[in-house]
Amino acid sequence: MTKTRYLRVLAVALALVLAVAAAACGGDDDGGGGEEAGATKKKDVEVFSWWTGGGEAAGLEKIIAIWNKEQPDMKFKNAAVAGGAGTNAKAVLAQRLSANDPPDSFQGHAGKELLDYIKAGQLEPIDSLFKDEGFDSVMPQQLLDQIRYQGHIYSVPVNIHRANVLWYSPKVLQQAGISTPPKTMAEFITDLGKVKAKGQIPLSMGEQWTSKHLLETVMLGDLGPEKWAALWKTGADWSGSDVTKALNDYAKVLSYTNSDAPSLTWQDASKLVVDGKAAFNIMGDWANGYFTELNKKGKTDYGYVAVPGTDGVYMWLSDSFTLPKGAPNREGALEWLKLVGSKDGQDAFNPVKGSIPARNDADASKYNEYLQWALGEWKKDKLAGSLTHGVVASNAWNTDIDGALGQFLQDKDVAKFQQRLVDAAKKHATA
Ligand code: GAL
Repeated sequence: MTKTRYLRVLAVALALVLAVAAAACGGDDDGGGGEEAGATKKKDVEVFSWWTGGGEAAGLEKIIAIWNKEQPDMKFKNAAVAGGAGTNAKAVLAQRLSANDPPDSFQGHAGKELLDYIKAGQLEPIDSLFKDEGFDSVMPQQLLDQIRYQGHIYSVPVNIHRANVLWYSPKVLQQAGISTPPKTMAEFITDLGKVKAKGQIPLSMGEQWTSKHLLETVMLGDLGPEKWAALWKTGADWSGSDVTKALNDYAKVLSYTNSDAPSLTWQDASKLVVDGKAAFNIMGDWANGYFTELNKKGKTDYGYVAVPGTDGVYMWLSDSFTLPKGAPNREGALEWLKLVGSKDGQDAFNPVKGSIPARNDADASKYNEYLQWALGEWKKDKLAGSLTHGVVASNAWNTDIDGALGQFLQDKDVAKFQQRLVDAAKKHATA
């Protein structure tokens, strides 16, 4: 086991121990039991997410501020577990759900990730809330399709994020003699070489999930949205030469990343661009929320374009909140869900989080220049679901891909990597 992996496993184990200890205490502030404890608990609404870091916590705070105003009698209990993309949080959540200790509401990605919770019988449908609040008439159909199962709705989307963004430093590009950001994968690879020749970091990257994020966007760039979608259908075949080509390009791109990537968070990696220390970073638009928090300015401190080869395609994902079965404060959870689905809630959260709202009636004037671009692209682009962020594959499939990727990051053997991906698809693309 590598040192980083060892530390990550240790962090997850520690988070689990803390979660179990918290469960044992029962969140019962005054130490009372029975009826009284129930009454005490009702005053809190415990919301579970992984938004603790730069840009993310700030977005959550905005919506908590509304909650505090609107719900003076119900305290917001922030149960966020640190770790980008929920790498630690999902393990803690799984443990809590299996111990019958659900929070009142938890973050889950629309799509296959949500489906896992639904199929495990861990969620309550929330059709009537959707109807009463009119969410079904303001949220895009293609998004509703990803939160519906057997005719019932199971979560409230708070946003839509874009995964395929190439952030760049105008200053570093200029120093490397690159006049416009690359449009194709071939141009991208050439540009990475130009930056390397100048002795700067061509492409900044962080811990393992960010290399998976890079993988999915490079694959989308090479394969296009139709072939990408086909990889997730029943009976999908990953053995084709087009996949080989995409993986080879990925290997090339990867060779231009910083050697300390495993020890960096996504924030550390994206900050290298706005600090003028790296030319490019491929990250979801939560990076835009972080840049705004850092007071960095678009055009001067950073620029953005679609990941090379993906112009006209929106690789999307959506954070949504759920009503777990057995939520201790069900009533409070429903109030929380109403807030995260509301126009006011979304227009407060998303401009800071760096995402566009999951509703089509946003007040565009509240969104910065990047997000206004994203709002426009969302309306016209073709859609592709994200792998890393739960849209196209179940947690189990994701875990097998993580295993294959972990090996590849060590041995850099494209043929073995592809074979492992082929095997994973055979195992999971079954229904
Ligand atoms: C994603 C999540 C985003 C953002 C990102 C980095 O999975 O959907 O909201 O938080 O992880 O942590």
